[in-house]
Amino acid sequence: MEHVELAAGDLLLRPWRDADAPAVRDALRDPAIAQWNPQGGGPVDDEAALLWVRRRADWSAGDHASMAVTAATGGDLLGSVSLHHIHHGDASIGYWTVPAARGRGVAVRAVGRLTDWAFADLRLHRVELCHAVANSASCRVADRAGYLAEGTLRESYQYGDGRRHDEHLHARLATDR
Ligand SMILES: CC(C)(COP(=O)(O)OP(=O)(O)OC[C@H]1O[C@@H](n2cnc3c(N)ncnc32)[C@H](O)[C@@H]1OP(=O)(O)O)[C@@H](O)C(=O)NCCC(=O)NCCS
Repeated sequence: MEHVELAAGDLLLRPWRDADAPAVRDALRDPAIAQWNPQGGGPVDDEAALLWVRRRADWSAGDHASMAVTAATGGDLLGSVSLHHIHHGDASIGYWTVPAARGRGVAVRAVGRLTDWAFADLRLHRVELCHAVANSASCRVADRAGYLAEGTLRESYQYGDGRRHDEHLHARLATDR
């Protein structure tokens, strides 16, 4: 898959770069991100952060499209949004926002923009979004980005606290209004 950049008002979604590694290191150390976007339990140091951005910058397998969310001017890192498990018209979406940028619609707009691109350009049919039931902020992001709630998955994913949590499954279809 070819890299793209997507404008979304005062946000820019763009592929990850090596220079993002220090900001990613700091973000992944945020307790809420460590809890709800766990990275496998190893130390989040400079080396781990560089590997993280390099893996996400490599779209060659065609199974994911991972983007840094930045301010359109200035370029500060505000968050992360990614399509993963892209396969046969389906994908899943994941995201986080750095603490300083929360509460101003960054996640909703980034998820909305990447989803629109997935339907229009990747020709996907269905994108799923899962979050822990306890993560009410993420549930609100899903609702506000038009992802309909489809049900509750029981103890379906192990989060950063080492516990399996129930999750809400939400999804959007290309044919949804
Ligand atoms: C969840 C998260 C991505 C939200 O990012 P954000 O950029 O602050 O979200 P937005 O500003 O787009 O807010 C979207 C909605 O969620 C609501 N919201 C944000 N934080 C909230 C909170 N802590 N509790 C309840 N609602 C919250 C906002 O009020 C908004 O709803 P509204 O438009 O009706 O007011 C961010 O808090 C985060 O990164 N958390 C840690 C990692 C995480 O949970 N990732 C998702 C894993 S599934």
